[in-house]
Amino acid sequence: MQILIAEDTLRQRVAALPQEISSDHPNGVHLVCVLKGAFVFLADLIRTMTCEVTLDFMAVSSYGPSTRSSGQVRVLKDLDSGLEGRPVVIVEDIVDTGLTLAYLQEILRARGPRSLKTACLVSKPSRRQTNVAVDYVGFTIDDLFVVGYGLDSGERHRNLPHLAIVTDSSRAASPTP
Ligand code: IMP
Ligand code: MG
Repeated sequence: MQILIAEDTLRQRVAALPQEISSDHPNGVHLVCVLKGAFVFLADLIRTMTCEVTLDFMAVSSYGPSTRSSGQVRVLKDLDSGLEGRPVVIVEDIVDTGLTLAYLQEILRARGPRSLKTACLVSKPSRRQTNVAVDYVGFTIDDLFVVGYGLDSGERHRNLPHLAIVTDSSRAASPTP
């Protein structure tokens, strides 16, 4: 698979993002990591955060086994703690159509956080189907399907240290687990 974003480039950009997040949240921030795709991004992000950090995990499914967003989002694992009055940043892997994030923002906003922002590793603006706000963006890419650094295709390739492009032919060749 062709490399789109190399390991070094990922590391440098992900090390820079926490400065923005920390300076916007001098009194600390509560990070909500969206599983599974954002776990590597979160792990690297928090190690250069300079403000106080607490975190929680949520799992959602927008795809099922296919690589197309269904627009139907299911909460597979909810947060362990409440958000009321807390400054919250959602940590997402990719914002593609934006449907998943728009849904997440809606249900989390209803829980009364003091503020609600979103950080994503990768954004694909040309694919948007809804006008969703993303406050911190690692990389903006074209309409490509990427894997690695936590991101998968049918649960595979999350372990790659870089972001690689999955072509239609390599997708077709991948057996569904
Ligand atoms: P959306 O609802 O279309 O924005 O899709 C969001 C979710 O789809 C992301 O959180 C990812 O889990 C997944 N996704 C979208 N594009 C990609 C990709 O290029 N590679 C891997 N997962 C993706
Ligand atoms: Mg995701």
